[in-house]
Amino acid sequence: MVFSLYLVVLIAPLLRLAAAVPARSSSEFARRCTGTISSLDDVGSAVACTTININGFTVSFRTTFNLNLLQGTTVNLNGDIAFGNLSWAGPLFQISGNDITFNGNGHSFDGGGPFYWDGLGSNGGITKPRPMMKIKISGTFYNTKVINSPAQTFSVSNPGPLTITGITIDNSQGDLPNSMSNGIPAGHNTDGFDVSTTNLIIENSSVMNQDDCLAINKGSNIIFTGNTCSGGHGISIGSISSNATVSNIQITGNTITNNDQALRIKTDAIATGSTVTNITYSGNTGTGLRRYGILIDQSYPSTLGTPGTGVKLSAVNFMGSTNTISVASSATPVALNCGKGACTGTWNWSALKTSGGQPNFKANAPTISGYSL
Ligand SMILES: *[C@@H]1O[C@H](CO)[C@@H](O)[C@H](O)[C@H]1NC(C)=O
Ligand SMILES: *[C@@H]1O[C@H](CO)[C@@H](O)[C@H](O)[C@H]1NC(C)=O
Ligand SMILES: *[C@@H]1O[C@H](CO)[C@@H](O)[C@H](O)[C@H]1NC(C)=O
Ligand SMILES: *[C@@H]1O[C@H](CO)[C@@H](O)[C@H](O)[C@H]1NC(C)=O
Ligand SMILES: *[C@@H]1O[C@H](CO)[C@@H](O)[C@H](O)[C@H]1NC(C)=O
Repeated sequence: MVFSLYLVVLIAPLLRLAAAVPARSSSEFARRCTGTISSLDDVGSAVACTTININGFTVSFRTTFNLNLLQGTTVNLNGDIAFGNLSWAGPLFQISGNDITFNGNGHSFDGGGPFYWDGLGSNGGITKPRPMMKIKISGTFYNTKVINSPAQTFSVSNPGPLTITGITIDNSQGDLPNSMSNGIPAGHNTDGFDVSTTNLIIENSSVMNQDDCLAINKGSNIIFTGNTCSGGHGISIGSISSNATVSNIQITGNTITNNDQALRIKTDAIATGSTVTNITYSGNTGTGLRRYGILIDQSYPSTLGTPGTGVKLSAVNFMGSTNTISVASSATPVALNCGKGACTGTWNWSALKTSGGQPNFKANAPTISGYSL
């Protein structure tokens, strides 16, 4: 009895030491190791490392290429990634973690769009993996191409500050009809960036698509700057549904070419309890706009229908560097369709120059300074 107690006292520190050794060495290992991914089979062991190199490969299963990363991980994309043209819900790629650096090195993710595109997008037809790319990191995500997304391209919900820069989204092939699309553009609902988040910068990127370049559904402290949008539905706040807040948004220095409209705020006619405030547009250039230059409309899903009053809109300003918006001859430079009493305060539009097209449209407009609507 006395002897065995003595043994336990003697052994306990040794046991503790034995338990501590593997724990310490595995975290040391995580810091030092480099993981390499050449197929989905490699992901599980690679994510134990804080440097990960990805070689080009094709994901040929109905499985998300999912990187759930340790804090501080650096990921290098060293080849192109394709996906196997399979009808399922997706997403095709997902990345999560804090303080992550993702360097695409100019390599691409190819969603195989033409396999799915039937002109119906996410409204019907073939089940399309969407969003194609789900970004749930803080840190930096940069220098990569995303080609031919089946439907919506990026969904961003960062857990801390994130900068996305130098991204090319090219869905331009979807502008053409195909054998499944009944004569209409085959790509549909191919949104560039869908964001409901805070503390996000999207910079120096290019989006060629058939829907919103950017859509902010809710969130704050979002900067969208120095980007190019072509072919789609422009830079959007909305659609805004019930109980949503959007504030402190800066849309600056973007070039919007051949879109339905350049800059849009759309709020659901039936929405209640929502607020959109402190939206600043500065130094944006829009050309070849097909329907509107600027469309601020509280009647969504109608366009310039009966507006709702449940979303309060204030401080929507065109300030700083001049925003130059020129529309096609059949298009309307500015359409502002507010619910009664729903657009409030004085809006500073001193840095807005519009040209071309039809007379502006306004209903229940707030006081606007610096621009004659
Ligand atoms: C998916 O289909 C498209 C065309 O339909 C093709 O361009 C692409 O290479 C295919 N991707 C794979 C991984 O087979
Ligand atoms: C974006 O481009 C501008 C102009 O070339 C450059 O000054 C800025 O550093 C770039 N931003 C990032 C995050 O690379
Ligand atoms: C909005 O919030 C109110 C009050 O919390 C709630 O009663 C209502 O159901 C919410 N509406 C929606 C569409 O979520
Ligand atoms: C408006 O948003 C900007 C950032 O976009 C911020 O610096 C400023 O303080 C905000 N103004 C108000 C009145 O909240
Ligand atoms: C509107 O914004 C400009 C900056 O673009 C500023 O100079 C001007 O004073 C503002 N006007 C009002 C009425 O606040």
